[in-house]
Amino acid sequence: MTILEKINAPPTRLGGTALYDWDELVQEDRAHRLIYTDPAIFEAEMTHIFGGTWTYLAHESEIPNDNDFITRRLGLRPLIIVRDMNGKVRALYNRCTHRGTTLCRWDKGNTKSFQCPYHGWNFLNTGKLRGVPWPDGYATDLRDPKYNVAQVPRLESYRGFIFGTLNMDALPLTDHLGPIAKYIDEWLDRNPGGKVVVCEANRFKYKGNWKLAYDNSCDGYHVIYSHRSILETENRFAGDNAKGMAYYRNSPDSLAMYMKYTGHGNHLKDKRPNLEARPGGLWALESAHPGMEHYEEKFRQKFGDRALSLLDLAGSQPVNINVFPNFSLLGNHIQVFEPVSVGETNAIWYGTMIVDANGDIGEEAVNDINALRMRTQEGFPNFGEVDDIANFEQIQRGLMAIEDEWVYMHRGLGIPGRTKTHPDGSITAPATDEAFMREHFKEWKRLMKARPNLAVQREP
Ligand code: FES
Ligand SMILES: [Fe+2]
Repeated sequence: MTILEKINAPPTRLGGTALYDWDELVQEDRAHRLIYTDPAIFEAEMTHIFGGTWTYLAHESEIPNDNDFITRRLGLRPLIIVRDMNGKVRALYNRCTHRGTTLCRWDKGNTKSFQCPYHGWNFLNTGKLRGVPWPDGYATDLRDPKYNVAQVPRLESYRGFIFGTLNMDALPLTDHLGPIAKYIDEWLDRNPGGKVVVCEANRFKYKGNWKLAYDNSCDGYHVIYSHRSILETENRFAGDNAKGMAYYRNSPDSLAMYMKYTGHGNHLKDKRPNLEARPGGLWALESAHPGMEHYEEKFRQKFGDRALSLLDLAGSQPVNINVFPNFSLLGNHIQVFEPVSVGETNAIWYGTMIVDANGDIGEEAVNDINALRMRTQEGFPNFGEVDDIANFEQIQRGLMAIEDEWVYMHRGLGIPGRTKTHPDGSITAPATDEAFMREHFKEWKRLMKARPNLAVQREP
């Protein structure tokens, strides 16, 4: 038995978590503060959740060419996501097999090999050890696979979104995504060729637990209170007060938008039914951005009747599609949550561009649409995310009130007919319900109770 197998063997020796009864910590209507504040629970999450289930790692467009790489994380494990010299996408542990330092200290680049900065061991981008300085100082055979870099054993891409898991027993990715895949498809398919290309990111850090971000990812209850200043900004130059998230203003639960839980911790907030289904319906909702009128005029002159549907490509898609534990599609953005410690998280907002996949828009118009999409990147991620992060940090502070033990998530619970379970197992509820949170905590608990069958792989 390896040391790792011993650690994972029941009863778990991971910190003090064997002391916990998960059903006591997370109940139907409430969760205990410890799940956000206890370092031992955080440590257990780094194997049971990040490693034990599928985690979003990167988008294929970030490594389009052979030998392209980016550095990312799976939980706390540093990774190099690389398209190797043969075109195969791999997630290498960014960890030298000699004495353990990170091999690559760049965010991205293109290379056939990684040379360790410490003693110069050199690894091919397939993960294989290529050579070491002064090999005659070793009596052992350095071709032993144990000296090759560890790799995430299961990596799958869903239409360009690359997920990884260390759990050999996890379902195949498409089964894991299940019904949420349809909404990912719709998010992609509105773009030419059903594609996006990921561009740079707005990077935030907050002093709070990673779950606070996922708990908020489908929360329609806070919008009008937490995001009041951006709502006012969005509507300052508009006469009708109907821009941006204005549909939360009066009685959000009576509108057509809804929340939906689709299983495995994944959920959706769908605000599209609130919009007029017509070309320009989305564009009409877009708040004022610098240069907007100029672009609109240009599109009308060049494309006539088609102008509005093209301008819709710049509008923020009114959905939040959340894949547990760390991935959201919202507006035109991909948001990724990266745990750093029990009380520290990175929240990263990647922008996306469209491409002229069918060759019928033209380079100039595609550039204009992408410039407008960049204005949306400057909108909510800059002026709305800060509101959310302020809440996450203040929750983490509030949860330091040790004797006040519970957080409640029972909005909508016990009201007959309010929450609906459908034949496919999905659950829908009005937009401000907390049903999504009650459901993703069932998945969290399932994973925390299970013993994940974790493995790494090395080149032979
Ligand atoms: S730690 Fe990498 S070569 Fe020594
Ligand atoms: Fe928010």
